[in-house]
Amino acid sequence: MMSTKHDFLMLLLENADDYISGEKAARKLGVSRAAIWKAVRTLRTEGYHIEAVTNRGYRLGEDNDILTPHLIQSYMNHKMKVICFPTIDSTNNEAKRELARGRADEFLITADEQTQGRGRQGKSFYSPAHTGIYMSLVLHPMMELKNAVTATTAAAVAVCRAIERLTDKEPQIKWVNDVYLDGKKICGVLTEAITDYETQIVTSIIVGIGLNISTTDFPDDVENAASLASNVRRSEMIAAIADELCDILDKKSLSFLDYYRTHSMIIGQEIVFIKNGVVTRATALEIDEKGGLRVRLENGEITTLTSGEISIRRVE
Ligand code: BTN
Repeated sequence: MMSTKHDFLMLLLENADDYISGEKAARKLGVSRAAIWKAVRTLRTEGYHIEAVTNRGYRLGEDNDILTPHLIQSYMNHKMKVICFPTIDSTNNEAKRELARGRADEFLITADEQTQGRGRQGKSFYSPAHTGIYMSLVLHPMMELKNAVTATTAAAVAVCRAIERLTDKEPQIKWVNDVYLDGKKICGVLTEAITDYETQIVTSIIVGIGLNISTTDFPDDVENAASLASNVRRSEMIAAIADELCDILDKKSLSFLDYYRTHSMIIGQEIVFIKNGVVTRATALEIDEKGGLRVRLENGEITTLTSGEISIRRVE
């Protein structure tokens, strides 16, 4: 069951442009005025800046780093439905549910917090409240399955471009689609494709992006993670990432791979990759024209790694 605090926050978010009186909020939520005061107090102790004006009521202060559809859309060039949740299991899961409910257009889901954020290879993605970006962009590119990996590579490029546009940081990409800053991972991408069984055409892709903005304390099992550590507005960053990704995919060109190559942190490096449980040493040579990673094995053989069940790391 949701709390009055949660419901009141939702109400404030829905009315982000206007004041709502305590009386009206109490009526709408079917609770007492005292319950609303208590919700205001609790939200303030959690760091929300809630303005209170006599005879007008409450409003979320503009300096809150809040996520609302209205705010995100106001920064975005591409027009699409945006749905924001204070908390959700996983934005990718919610995207699937939304597709199952019949939504057929392009849309974007964001959450302030994920309780079951998912990473690649069955891992979890640490998604604490307010300190990160957790977003899923659903597109219908009508491409063949073999090209769906392009979306994943494109997402890493989109995140880096958005970061470079809005901050002075210099992110890098670790093949396939992790974004790093100063040698630590700040962002991961989990792309899921919905394919028509008969035609093998990808009807929808769900591009899930998790970007740590100000998270400082990571659990022990999260290795080598860090945050962007910038006071950029999350709503603006989400809009920039979504715009950059739509721009790349609209073009239907692989020219973004040039950017990918110049930002790739493993080319020329000694790496270890693990495929089907087998650990192999190799030298990373180049990113090929499809986003695959060409490597030279220790026996001199040259092979191309495609994404999937491979995990790689640099040899320190
Ligand atoms: C990885 O690093 O392995 C990928 C992490 C992907 C995390 C994002 S956060 C938004 C979306 N919802 C999820 O459950 N996962 C992705």
